[in-house]
Amino acid sequence: MTVLEGEHLTKNFGGIVAVDDVSFSIDKGETVGLIGPNGAGKSTLFRLISGVQEPTEGTVYLDGEDITGMTPHEICHRGLVRTHQIVHPFENLTLAENAAVGAQFGGRNSGDPEERAHEALEFVGLDDMAHTTPDELSVGALKRLEIARALATDPEVLLFDEVAGGLDTDETEAIVELIRDIADRGKTVFLIDHVMRALMSVSERVFVLDNANLIATGTPEEIQNDRRVIEAYLGENAGDAMGDTADAGAD
Ligand SMILES: Nc1ncnc2c1ncn2[C@@H]1O[C@H](COP(=O)(O)OP(=O)(O)OP(=O)(O)O)[C@@H](O)[C@H]1O
Ligand SMILES: [Mg+2]
Repeated sequence: MTVLEGEHLTKNFGGIVAVDDVSFSIDKGETVGLIGPNGAGKSTLFRLISGVQEPTEGTVYLDGEDITGMTPHEICHRGLVRTHQIVHPFENLTLAENAAVGAQFGGRNSGDPEERAHEALEFVGLDDMAHTTPDELSVGALKRLEIARALATDPEVLLFDEVAGGLDTDETEAIVELIRDIADRGKTVFLIDHVMRALMSVSERVFVLDNANLIATGTPEEIQNDRRVIEAYLGENAGDAMGDTADAGAD
């Protein structure tokens, strides 16, 4: 059953076409990866879906409902939440309060927000630090806090924008485990990452954006063997790219 659908999504910024006539559909419970070179339009596509920016053209459906033009808050209430590529927690709030903001902001009024915030912190392994502030966290822990804030909204669909970006191998593995746990709970996950091993290992399907266009969709194996994808992004060492960050993502 389709939970998230984009139809002919286009986003222009002045003369720049950041997303060009992109259509896709994601099933309930699916985990789908989104890859592509820097500037391909990945984060912009996530912003169109989550309501941060309105598409120039096209439609977004969540559970069959047209959510195009709704605010992030309205969309969050309907069960879709996005994490940010660059995390920015409230620095002067504790982790518990940060997660509680997520719980208040979104949420479909299922259960007590504070309890949801606590559960979310526990889920990402930060409950013992609930009363500290974000400045005491490592980069990996900040990414896990970002996930906790998203989970506290009680979402059905989660969009993760580079949650493994800039992390070392152990921290990346911890994030991968979290994403698996979230997917195992039946949630739908749509994730962007340049860390190919991580992304390919959790994704059932992978979408490839290049220069604003969706150039390929398929299983991780199909994508790794797709000539156009190798040329556009994975490079000649597609096999090796599995163990590494793809060329374009080295920033
Ligand atoms: N608010 C904006 N105003 C003008 N141009 C923008 C804006 N946001 C994005 N762009 C442009 O749209 C294109 C797509 O950017 P986007 O951030 O979506 O790429 P991305 O695939 O997420 O890249 P990265 O892998 O580096 O995060 C780029 O050319 C970018 O400069
Ligand atoms: Mg981006």
